[in-house]
Amino acid sequence: MDFLAHQQQLWDQWAPHYNDEHQDRDPHPAADFLAELAGAGGQALELAIGTGRIALPLADRGITVTGIDVSPAMLNELHHHRGDRPVHTYVGDMADLDTGSDRYDLIYVAFSSFYFLMTQARQAACLQRVTQALTPGGRFVIEATIPRAPGLLAGRQQLAVRELTGAHLSLSAISHDPIEQIIRFQEIRFDPTGTRLLPVVMRYVHLSELDLLAAAARLTLTARYADWHRTLVTASSSQHISVYSPAGDTP
Ligand SMILES: C[S@@+](CC[C@H](N)C(=O)[O-])C[C@H]1O[C@@H](n2cnc3c(N)ncnc32)[C@H](O)[C@@H]1O
Repeated sequence: MDFLAHQQQLWDQWAPHYNDEHQDRDPHPAADFLAELAGAGGQALELAIGTGRIALPLADRGITVTGIDVSPAMLNELHHHRGDRPVHTYVGDMADLDTGSDRYDLIYVAFSSFYFLMTQARQAACLQRVTQALTPGGRFVIEATIPRAPGLLAGRQQLAVRELTGAHLSLSAISHDPIEQIIRFQEIRFDPTGTRLLPVVMRYVHLSELDLLAAAARLTLTARYADWHRTLVTASSSQHISVYSPAGDTP
């Protein structure tokens, strides 16, 4: 099975559980940050939009959002909650992004979803496509885990207890291939309804590699934060939010 078909299968499996699993992640700081970058009445494109966790509150701030995702089941969840918000989606591969003559003030990819491209070549191709799809003065934003974050790469294999109550046990099993930069997870849930396996597989990218791939796509880093509140990134940050502009633009 190829990388794309594999990702589709995994995320179709996640779709009915995704919003419940991530209900603790507040999307509003992300929506505020992104709305400001898109500008009043701006047009945004989310790569790997999923269930619209961020896109729906962004649309509530007056931004029209288009989203691409490989999983029809994740998009079905989005449309179930979309109401009349200006959020449009299509099924596709972000490595192969083709927006025709449409250009966006803001393109973003959140929650480490860039890592689901699985190879350096596909990650490079995606960034090239992003550059072509930005308006002059547009911005590209990527939110992702910093690879050496505690808990992620502690060893080649790891089993972590996420939640333990009288009726519920949540485990994460993780294996890491540092040569391929591939991490595989199984989120394992035991509760009175039974056992659930929620798999994830990703190719992480170090910041230096990301900036080099971006530069090859003619994207220049303009800011790097540790969170959506614009806290500056430091050696102890566990995630980064990196903002790029087309090379030659004045930020
Ligand atoms: C962790 S979810 C993130 C969803 C949403 N952006 C969020 O922040 O909640 C990852 C999403 O990436 C999508 N995805 C994985 N590989 C993709 C690809 N090559 N092209 C487009 N979407 C992809 C999955 O279908 C899934 O919806």
